[in-house]
Amino acid sequence: MTAVLFVCLGNICRSPLADGVFRQHVQAARLTDRFEIDSAGCGGWHTGELPDKRSIAVAQAHGIDISDQRARQIHIDDFDRFDLILGLDRDNVRHLTAMQPAGSRAKVALYLEDALGMAKNVPDPYYGGTADFEAVYRLCEKASAGLLKSLISA
Ligand code: 4NP
Repeated sequence: MTAVLFVCLGNICRSPLADGVFRQHVQAARLTDRFEIDSAGCGGWHTGELPDKRSIAVAQAHGIDISDQRARQIHIDDFDRFDLILGLDRDNVRHLTAMQPAGSRAKVALYLEDALGMAKNVPDPYYGGTADFEAVYRLCEKASAGLLKSLISA
């Protein structure tokens, strides 16, 4: 069992997409019993909220339902519950690294770097438009394939 946590700033735009798209890849590979998948935000402003309407819409357009997700803030216990905690951008990774208790289980890494060897942020689409959300989806699609491949062969 591998437990993977996707973390962005608010847990309403990017990490719910990263979670939903990775979940779809895992389901398509019939590996649901091998993964625990969740998402969280560095901040708690949106705790309990549904993903942003624009994230729900872009996921829906690609046949993925993320409307069952609810935002939550990263918690100190997550560093022992998860094997891999992926920050969607470098600010997220800095926040996670600063918070990680010494000797805890999780490996903290930058999402696109860990998944694809691409040392790049997933840009925050919150103040953007539909095209920005579509761009996040496309990055998540590529990253999920790379991530699943590397976790299966690990
Ligand atoms: P996310 O996007 O980190 O991809 O969920 C954001 C959502 C909300 C805010 C910032 C980024 N906010 O400032 O409330």
